[in-house]
Amino acid sequence: MSPSITSLLCPILAACHVYAQESYSQLPSTAIPNGLLTPSGSYATNYDFGTTSNVSGSVGAINATTFTSTTASLIGITGVPGPSTLPSVTASTRSTTTRPSQPINTQPCNGYVEFCNRSLGNISMVVAHNSPFVIPRNAASNQALGVITQLNDGIRGLQFETQMPNDILRLCHTSCNLLDAGTLQAYLQKVAGWLAANPYEVIAIMMGNTDRVSPTNYIQPFEAAGLLPYLYTPTASTYSLDQWPTLAQMILSNKRVVVMLDYGANQEEVSWLLDQFRYQWQTPFSPTDTSFPCTAQRPPNQPEDVSRNKMYMLNHNLNIAITLNGNPGDAFLIPAYTLLNEVNADSGNTTTLGGNVANCTAMWNRPPNWLLVDYYNFGNFNGSVFQVAANANNVSYNRNSCCGTESNSGAKSANLMSTATLLLLNLLLLFSLW
Ligand SMILES: *[C@@H]1O[C@H](CO)[C@@H](O)[C@H](O)[C@H]1NC(C)=O
Ligand SMILES: *[C@@H]1O[C@H](CO)[C@@H](O)[C@H](O)[C@H]1NC(C)=O
Ligand SMILES: *[C@@H]1O[C@H](CO)[C@@H](O)[C@H](O)[C@H]1NC(C)=O
Ligand SMILES: *[C@@H]1O[C@H](CO)[C@@H](O)[C@H](O)[C@H]1NC(C)=O
Ligand SMILES: *[C@@H]1O[C@H](CO)[C@@H](O)[C@H](O)[C@H]1NC(C)=O
Ligand SMILES: *[C@@H]1O[C@H](CO)[C@@H](O)[C@H](O)[C@H]1NC(C)=O
Ligand SMILES: *[C@@H]1O[C@H](CO)[C@@H](O)[C@H](O)[C@H]1NC(C)=O
Ligand SMILES: *[C@@H]1O[C@H](CO)[C@@H](O)[C@H](O)[C@H]1NC(C)=O
Repeated sequence: MSPSITSLLCPILAACHVYAQESYSQLPSTAIPNGLLTPSGSYATNYDFGTTSNVSGSVGAINATTFTSTTASLIGITGVPGPSTLPSVTASTRSTTTRPSQPINTQPCNGYVEFCNRSLGNISMVVAHNSPFVIPRNAASNQALGVITQLNDGIRGLQFETQMPNDILRLCHTSCNLLDAGTLQAYLQKVAGWLAANPYEVIAIMMGNTDRVSPTNYIQPFEAAGLLPYLYTPTASTYSLDQWPTLAQMILSNKRVVVMLDYGANQEEVSWLLDQFRYQWQTPFSPTDTSFPCTAQRPPNQPEDVSRNKMYMLNHNLNIAITLNGNPGDAFLIPAYTLLNEVNADSGNTTTLGGNVANCTAMWNRPPNWLLVDYYNFGNFNGSVFQVAANANNVSYNRNSCCGTESNSGAKSANLMSTATLLLLNLLLLFSLW
C-alpha cells in the first residue's frame, strides 16, 4: 500500500486520527423500503405497544390526537402524575389527585413501567456510536444494523457527525468526498417515522458539528423531517441531574427527543439544540485504552462537584490503530471487531462494558446515563449491552429481545475514490483483521 493512498484518505492528520475508522468505506446505494418505517424484526414484545392491555379507570390518558401514530394503540400512563400545565393531558388527570388510591401503571416508558416516573437524569441508556454508518462486514462501519432496527432493539441515543459541504447538512466522515451517508434530513425522517409509531419512547440525538456551522442550519432538516413537534426545550441553559423531567412528563407532552450539539450551539437562537457539554460530560472519546478510564474529558476542567451532579456519557468503543505501510505516523483507528465479544460483554474487567459501568458507578456514585458502543448487537451474547443498562437501572432484561436484522442504512456511495480503490482498501483492512 503506498503512503499516498493513506494521505489521500487522511487529508487532515488530526481529523484522520479521530475519524479514520469511518473513512474507508464503500457504501452501497440502497433504496429505503417503505416497510422500514414501521417496526419490524425480532424486537421485544414489550416494545410492541399494540399488544399492551387496556387499563380501565386509567388516568393521565394521552390525547391520541397529539400523535400521528396509526399503528400503536394509545393507552394512558396510569398512576403517574402528569404535569398539570401540559395541554395534551386530559382533564381527568387532575381529578385523580383526589382519588383515595392511585391505580398501578402498566404502560411501559422506554420499555419499562419503572421508568415512567423516573427523571431522564436517573436512567442509563445505550447509545449507538455513529448510528448512520451501517455497512455489515465493512472495516469502516460502527454498526451493523440500521437506525430503525437500532431503535426497535432498545438503542435510545443516536450519535453521529454532521458536515455541511454545500448548504445542506450531511452525514459525512472526515470529508464528504470520501464518505457520505446521505442528508441529515433523510436520516431524521426515518427517526420521525419511528417516533410516530412508538409514542411511549424518549430518545436523544447527539451530533458533532464538524464544520462549526451556525446552529440555525439545523432547523430546516429537523423541520422538514417532521421532528420539530417532538423536540424538548430545556428551561435552563444548563441542567443538573434533578432538573431533567420524568419520562412520563416528556411522553405526555410529546416532547420526547433531546437534541445535543457538541460545538457551536446557541440556545438563544435555537432553543431545542442543546449545548451538549453544559448538560452532560463525557469520558475520553475514541479510546484505544482497553481499561476505558471513567475520568471526565469534555468539557475540560469541569469541577468535580459539578460533574457529580450532571448527566454523563461513557465512551466505551474500542479502536485499534493499524497501518497499511508500516509507518506508525500513518496509523489510523478502526473499531476492534475481534474484541467485541469482550468489549460489549455484560461482566468482566473494565474492558467489558459491564465491568466498566460498575467501575464508573463506584467512582461517581451512580451509573453513566449514556453508554456509547460500536456494534451494539454483538457481545458475550446478543443484547449484552442492554443487559448492562438494565443492571444499571435495576430492571430485568429480556435476553430474547435482541436483535433485529435489518441494515436499513440508506447510505450512498462515496464519490471521490474509485470503487476499485475502495475495494482494495477494504480487502487489505479485512485481511489484516481476520
Ligand atoms: C380503553 O378503555 C377506555 C375506557 O374504558 C375506552 O374508552 C377505550 O376505547 C379503550 N381502548 C381500547 C384500545 O380498548
Ligand atoms: C385532543 O386535542 C385536540 C387538539 O388539541 C382537541 O381538539 C380535542 O378536543 C382533544 N380531545 C380530548 C378528548 O381531549
Ligand atoms: C413518582 O415519584 C415521586 C418522587 O420520586 C414520588 O413521590 C411519587 O410517589 C411517585 N409516583 C408514583 C406513581 O410512583
Ligand atoms: C438513580 O438515582 C439513585 C439515587 O440517587 C441512584 O442510586 C441510582 O444509581 C440512579 N440510577 C441511575 C441509572 O442513574
Ligand atoms: C481484561 O481481561 C482481558 C483478558 O481476559 C485482557 O486482555 C485485558 O487486558 C483486561 N483488561 C484490563 C483493563 O485489565
Ligand atoms: C476504575 O477506573 C479508574 C479510573 O479510570 C481506574 O483508575 C481504576 O484502575 C479502575 N478500576 C479497576 C478495578 O480497573
Ligand atoms: C450475535 O448476532 C450476530 C448476528 O447478527 C451473530 O453473528 C453473532 O455471532 C451473535 N452472537 C454474539 C455473541 O454476539
Ligand atoms: C432494585 O429493585 C428491587 C425490586 O425489583 C428493589 O427491591 C431494590 O431495592 C432495588 N435496588 C435498588 C438499588 O434500587
